[in-house]
Amino acid sequence: MKVDLLLGLQWGDEGKGKIVDVLTSKYDIIARFQGGPNAGHTLVFNNKKYVLHTIPSGIFHKNKINLIGNGVVIDPVILCKEILNIRNENIKISETLLISKKAHLILPTHRILDAASEMSKGKNKIGSTLKGIGPTYMDKTGRNGFRVGELESKKWKDKYVELRDKHIELIKFFKVNLNFNLKKLEEEFFQSVDELKKIDFVDSENFLFEANDKKILAEGAQGSLLDIDFGTYPYVTSSNTTAAGACTGLGISPNSVNQVFGIFKAYTTRVGSGPFPTELFDSYGERMSKVGNEFGATTGRPRRCGWLDLVALKYACRVNGVSKLMMMKTDVLSGFDKVLVCTNYNYKGKIINYLPYDLSESSLKPVYKEFKGWSEDLRQIDSFENLPENLNYYIKFLEKELEVPIVIVSVGPDRKETLFR
Ligand code: IMP
Repeated sequence: MKVDLLLGLQWGDEGKGKIVDVLTSKYDIIARFQGGPNAGHTLVFNNKKYVLHTIPSGIFHKNKINLIGNGVVIDPVILCKEILNIRNENIKISETLLISKKAHLILPTHRILDAASEMSKGKNKIGSTLKGIGPTYMDKTGRNGFRVGELESKKWKDKYVELRDKHIELIKFFKVNLNFNLKKLEEEFFQSVDELKKIDFVDSENFLFEANDKKILAEGAQGSLLDIDFGTYPYVTSSNTTAAGACTGLGISPNSVNQVFGIFKAYTTRVGSGPFPTELFDSYGERMSKVGNEFGATTGRPRRCGWLDLVALKYACRVNGVSKLMMMKTDVLSGFDKVLVCTNYNYKGKIINYLPYDLSESSLKPVYKEFKGWSEDLRQIDSFENLPENLNYYIKFLEKELEVPIVIVSVGPDRKETLFR
C-alpha cells in the first residue's frame, strides 16, 4: 500500500480542499485523517461553491471512495447537513462514503463545554471554532470518548447519557453564564445519528490495508502551525495536523507513505488568537484580506493576514518531510508594488533562522527580503511558462530556500485555475 499525504503548512485555510478535488482523479481512495467540523474545505467548480467540513474533498468525483478515518472527530448534526447539501449533485453517499468505527463522536455537550472553556478564558481565549473539537479529543485521550462503533450496540444511549451527565457537571465548573437548550440540541443529535447509521461503518485500518492495489490520498485539515505538538501552543487545535497524524489517524505505517504534498498560500493568514510574526495592520494586509476574501469558511470570522513567513514554512517542511510544494492564492498578490518574505527573525537581539519555543515573545520581529511585485492578472494565465518574470523569480527563491520543488501554482479558486509543472 502506498499513500500520498496532503497537508497544510501554515495556520490552515491554505486551499487543501481545492487541491484534493483537483488531484482526486489520480486516486481511488481519499481519506481524512484528523480534525473535524472545525475545518472548512472550499471547492469551486461549474460556477458553484461547496464547503466541506468532515467529508473528504474527493466526494464530487464518481467511483472514488471517501473515508473518514479514526483520527477524525464527527459531529453527526454537521455531517448530516453536509450530506444534504451535496445530494443536489447526485452523489450516491451510501456507495462512496465510509466512516471508521474508531472515529469519535462530538456530542452536543462537547460543544457546550468548548464554549464554556473559551468564555472562562476571557482575553486569553484560543479563538476556537466552538465545534467541540478540544473537549472531544480530551475525552478520547482521557479514555472516556464515544466512538462511532458504539452506535452499533443496542445500549449506546446509556453510554451517551453517562457521558452527557458527566459533561453537565463539568460545565458547572467553568462558572459562566451560557444559555443552551439541551433538549433541542439532543433531538437534533438523535435524528442525525439515525441518518448517520445509514452510512457504512468500517474497520478503516483493515479496509486500507486490504486496498493494497489502490491509490490512496490522505487529506489533512487545519495546518502544521496548529498542530497540538508542533504548533504555536496553546493557540492550536487538538490533533496532530502534521504527517505523523496521518499514520495514527488512518492506521497506516510510516513506510507506506510515498509523497508528502505541502500546501501553502503565497502569503500567510490566521484565524483566532495566537502569535503571528508577519501579521500586517496596513493597506497591504487590507488588500490581501479583501482580494483574497479572507473570511473563515466555517465561522465567517475575518482572517488575519500577513507576508509569507519562510522561517515557519521551512519548519513545517521539515516536520512533515514535504516532498512537493503547492502554492495557493498567488493571484491575490497581483498588483502589489512589492512583495515581502520573512527570511529570519530578530529574536532577543540575535538574527535566527529557526522557530523559537515561544513565538509570542515580544522581542521577536521578522526580517524581510523585498521582491518586485507583478501586475498581470494571473487568472488568465494557462501555463507555468507564461507566469510573470517577477513571480517566477519569487517562486525560484522560495524553492531554493525551502529545498523543495513547487509543482502547482494556484491562480484562482476554480478547479480550472491550477497550473501544473
Ligand atoms: P478549534 O480546533 O476549533 O478548537 O480551534 C483552535 C484554533 O484553531 C483556533 O485558532 C481556530 O481558529 C483554529 N482552527 C481550527 N480549525 C481551523 C481551520 O480549519 N482553519 C483555520 N484555522 C482553524
